Amino acid sequence: MILQKLEYIILPPKTGDLATDVANLLRHNGREDTLTHVIDVARVNGELADRFGLVRDTCIAAGLLHDISAIIQPDDMMRYAIAGGFEICEAEHRFPFLLHQRFARMIASGYFEVEDRDILSAVACHTSLRASPTPCDMALFIADKLAWDQEGTPPYYDAVWSALDESLERASYVFMTFVMDNGMLLYPHKDWTLAYEYLKGKLES
Ligand SMILES: [Fe+2]
Ligand SMILES: [Fe+2]
Repeated sequence: MILQKLEYIILPPKTGDLATDVANLLRHNGREDTLTHVIDVARVNGELADRFGLVRDTCIAAGLLHDISAIIQPDDMMRYAIAGGFEICEAEHRFPFLLHQRFARMIASGYFEVEDRDILSAVACHTSLRASPTPCDMALFIADKLAWDQEGTPPYYDAVWSALDESLERASYVFMTFVMDNGMLLYPHKDWTLAYEYLKGKLES
């Protein structure tokens, strides 16, 4: 488990309550900013769960865990990924922080002992989405973008909210199209491309 191998990571005692333990881990490692963000994402994801008939606790847990790897430096993620023989796509090579979704999944399962596949899947693809995404995957993907971690309201906010009137697929597709059309995509992650092609085929056929 990577957390035990990095000497700068502080591991506070766990209580068994996920929300408390996520908050403690982020606080002890100087990531109050991430804690504020994941609480927002968990709230929005809970609302999406209610709206689209998903399991609320699953979506809240996914929201809380999705950026837990913020306590690891991107260079350390890259070193660990190379040493571990991970398959690393071009986007991750160019922008190592893109690995954070994969490390968040590893921390969720290896440290928090989460076994729920819906949670782990959504966490692992919350930045890129993936081919044939599940409703839980798309809900977290959208919740993360609506409760974004930067100043003000995201420029795609109204368009994505409106698209939710149709479906999670449409909202995901509207967000991805907006990002690409407005030069906001740093470099297409291989799973982003697969997700986009999948959604395009489903929604525009
Ligand atoms: Fe993230
Ligand atoms: Fe996030």
